[in-house]
Amino acid sequence: MRITVIGTGYLGVTHAACMAALGFEVMGLDVDVEKVAALAAGHVPFYEPGLEDLLREQIAAGRLSFTSDHAELAAWAGEGALHFVCVGTPQKKGEYAADMTYVDAAFETLARSVAHQGRSLLIGKSTVPVGTASRIADRIAELAPNAEVAWNPEFLREGHAVHDTLHPDRLVVGVRSEQAEADLRRVYARLLAENVPLVVTDFPTAELVKVSANSFLAVKISFINAMAEVCEAAGADVMQLAEALSHDPRIGHRFLVPGLGFGGGCLPKDIRAFMARAGELGVDQALAFLKEVDAINMRRRVRTVDLAREQCDGSLLGKRVAVWGAAFKPESDDIRDSPALNVAASINLQGAQVTVYDPKATDNARKMYPTLSYADSAMEAADQADVILHLTEWQEFRDLDPVAVRTQVRQTRIIDGRNALDATAWRSAGWTYRALGRP
Ligand code: UDX
Repeated sequence: MRITVIGTGYLGVTHAACMAALGFEVMGLDVDVEKVAALAAGHVPFYEPGLEDLLREQIAAGRLSFTSDHAELAAWAGEGALHFVCVGTPQKKGEYAADMTYVDAAFETLARSVAHQGRSLLIGKSTVPVGTASRIADRIAELAPNAEVAWNPEFLREGHAVHDTLHPDRLVVGVRSEQAEADLRRVYARLLAENVPLVVTDFPTAELVKVSANSFLAVKISFINAMAEVCEAAGADVMQLAEALSHDPRIGHRFLVPGLGFGGGCLPKDIRAFMARAGELGVDQALAFLKEVDAINMRRRVRTVDLAREQCDGSLLGKRVAVWGAAFKPESDDIRDSPALNVAASINLQGAQVTVYDPKATDNARKMYPTLSYADSAMEAADQADVILHLTEWQEFRDLDPVAVRTQVRQTRIIDGRNALDATAWRSAGWTYRALGRP
């Protein structure tokens, strides 16, 4: 059984390399010719721990190749192949809804190229508005009657993409035939043998699992961040509150870390697209709470800027501000909707000179925010700073010695936007340490 993967972003490259690692012959396709050339040469165009090694290993083993030619892909795949569609569904400009252009185009082109072949299964992995799979299946029935559609949402986290693909919490497949279920069971046989739970369901349920999972995670983060707001007003400590809550196994500790909130290419746009779709379905009230979740999240960014201004004696004008972190989370160079850069840019707009350092995301940040300054190390960024903002919780920042950093700055003030530094160590080294939701 041959596997193809359409779209080679975070999801597609990871899926292609991992399917090859499971022993299948895999061909990835992307319309971006340069990206295909880089991948074929063993280079992953973004930072994801372990992925480049896996990619090279699988290319060398002869199980993984890339193309930008649909005809080549279809001829290589042949009858009975499984085609995974992994293209992006970004937020539409000026709207909450998801932009379905890439998904629709990928399925249409794929259907046309496999139309003359025998049976094939076209599997959507992209995060889509509920109802998409059914709509696409109708279109595929017109274009390629031998092809069938299935939906298999992906739950991988950036920074853990390879692990999450090879050791998922669960597998979810939306199918309309026993044959489609059997095909997907064959693909994931090794994971199923390791007792990964499998939920076999219909199209709309499979689509909803993904967006509701991301919504739940967003709720958890915004819940604890709302508690942080209350703690700030009441003089309480949200870190101790979160710890106490987490001992209740019904609540748990994961995704309950207060701070600057969520960003990235998934959570923010997924909850917005979900609200937009609920509106179309006439159940917008059911998801009205997500608007509040989004608002709480955005307020954390504003609060961080306010805190920085407070620390700079009421004005950011002419101040030097060091920002540690640019990626939306550690172990990634992804800056899509990055809370750290959002805060850095706002502070810059208020007249401060902002110098950013990130272990992996500096190049991406420089392209998107050319008016900020960039440093090659955390120490360099801190040079003569009036305040340091710790906004993405890389281990590298936790490893810094507060005594050594002291010699670098103009004022010993630090704001921990991720509640991840050792407050006691920084305070005993003479720093004014402030964090969101803590006295
Ligand atoms: C998310 C989902 O976790 C994943 O299952 C889905 O497939 C894609 O979307 P990802 O975007 O990689 O994955 O990031 P995630 O680890 O979920 O973090 C999202 C954001 O929430 C980050 O900005 C992170 O800093 C923030 N976060 C996370 C918090 O602010 N507090 C927490 O306790 C946890």
